[in-house]
Amino acid sequence: MCGIFGYIGKSNKASEIVFNGLKTLEYRGYDSWGIATLKSKITVKKRVGKIGNANVDDLPKSNFALGHTRWATHGGVTEVNAHPHLDCSGQFAIIHNGIIENYDEIKEELLKKKHKIVSDTDTEVAVHLIEEIYRKSTGKSKKENFLEATRKAFNRFVGLNAIIVMDAETSTYVAAKNGSPLAIGKGSNENFLASDAHALIPYTKNIYFMEDGEIISVTPENISIFDALTGRKKTLKFNKLTWKQTAIDKGKYPHFMLKEIFDQPKVIENIINDSKFQIINFSDIIKNSYGTYLVGCGTAAYACLAGTYIFSKISGRHLNFSVGSEFGYLVDFLTPKSLVIALSQSGETIDVIDSVKKAKVKGAQITSLVNSLGSTLYRLSDKKLLLNAGVERAVVSTKAFTAKLTVLILLAYQLAGKISEGKSILRECLKVLKEVLCRDNLNRIRKLVKTLVSQKHIYIIGRGVSYPIALEAALKIKEASYIHAEGFAAGELKHGVIALIEKNIPCIAFLPNDETYGATLAGCMEMKARGGYIIGISHKNHEVFDYYLPVYDVGIASIIPSAVVGQLLGYYLAIEQGLDPDKPRNLAKSVTVR
Ligand code: AGP
Repeated sequence: MCGIFGYIGKSNKASEIVFNGLKTLEYRGYDSWGIATLKSKITVKKRVGKIGNANVDDLPKSNFALGHTRWATHGGVTEVNAHPHLDCSGQFAIIHNGIIENYDEIKEELLKKKHKIVSDTDTEVAVHLIEEIYRKSTGKSKKENFLEATRKAFNRFVGLNAIIVMDAETSTYVAAKNGSPLAIGKGSNENFLASDAHALIPYTKNIYFMEDGEIISVTPENISIFDALTGRKKTLKFNKLTWKQTAIDKGKYPHFMLKEIFDQPKVIENIINDSKFQIINFSDIIKNSYGTYLVGCGTAAYACLAGTYIFSKISGRHLNFSVGSEFGYLVDFLTPKSLVIALSQSGETIDVIDSVKKAKVKGAQITSLVNSLGSTLYRLSDKKLLLNAGVERAVVSTKAFTAKLTVLILLAYQLAGKISEGKSILRECLKVLKEVLCRDNLNRIRKLVKTLVSQKHIYIIGRGVSYPIALEAALKIKEASYIHAEGFAAGELKHGVIALIEKNIPCIAFLPNDETYGATLAGCMEMKARGGYIIGISHKNHEVFDYYLPVYDVGIASIIPSAVVGQLLGYYLAIEQGLDPDKPRNLAKSVTVR
């Protein structure tokens, strides 16, 4: 989950280049950050907390630097535990993304050999192991010894990891990958490494996405790649990415989350207009499969769950759903006729990657709806459909969610042979979305937020395709505002949940104009009878509502503006408390460690 960035080359502003790279990667983890730069010796600057308005003016000018933004796994959030970490001699500096599951046994060995290990991290153990192996090297050159020592150390690690190691003596990087993402950018007399390719785009479009089990040696002039297990040299082939350097700034908005909420109409319109062939091809794959499984985590999981209702209702098609972290325990019944459709914004969520790899072993066809070109999931998939929602910088996912819903609705209508009906309903949905995002409605939501912000618990109900929307709204509120919100199927109220309802407890209900309306309204009345404060999100007002938020009827596409109301509630509940919805505590944009 950490952000990684390295530079080596002609510019003597390596620290600034790395620092700016870290800023674009900070959504991957922001507990602490650090930079190591080489000028005769390695100098390290590390700080706890977000990068904010810090600078690196106090670091020496250099053409060799690497940096890291941390999401803490081993060891608390302290300056000592921040990366980069040095070996005893100060010759090597390491940054790391992942978890070395056997670090304790390695640490014990190294302590017996008198290594001075000052932090609680698994990462620092790694750099001392490299030092230990390097000391005993007998290779032909220091560069080869460094590569070999890093390779041997890396092969001892159990778990999913990516490391970059700087060697002061040879002014060389060695980087190795197994599980966590690592992209290499090739410039002219300069080279770059990063955990996300988009951080490299401002500098070069010649990108190589390292595969698992690869290790590279990097100098300003040269990049060589090897098989990490055997040490055998491999051929390195760069891709020329055609990515536009989309402006990834907040523009007129105070936060990325609000900007990305307001991006949604354009994103949805682009999908409606530009995805014709992908929708046709993808729906054919679904049509020809026997057993289709939608797999995702968090917000993406709720899009998957919505997909099962959408396909059932629109095309009479049975699709299964599993959260990514559970699917790996369910793959035994998969056959080569099975189809897995993985949904992921980042394409790096380890729970999805792991499950997909297990499904691949069973011969299932792997497809994905993914927002990140070149990501691990993108490259693992036999067939992928890019969401083209644009980079999502806020940790709290918004536009990628409604992009998934839009694609799923189009796929279901295509499968039913009614694609033009699907497109027109989505165009109607854009009009309703405009109303949800208009100033009056924002003020209506902000007024409600003033009542909700002091609450300890918020309950949210929905039925049918609105059930996953209730779950997603609860997640937005939890992760952006830290207020406990629980989403559940409205029908579950009487099976225990209603015991929680007491006077003034806020109960949000999604009541679209479909077959679920009456039953969910009955649920609202049951909660009202027990003192609940009922907030109705519906196509029409009702006397049982204490507060009404309009979402006019656009058929099954009503879930999109309804979801946006949930996003806005999460956003404004965060703002009302002075929180930063772009970087909520304890979270990171993509969960790349188990
Ligand atoms: C979304 O608001 C959350 N930050 C989180 O649940 C996220 O959806 C989940 O981690 C999956 O991420 P992905 O879409 O990149 O796979």
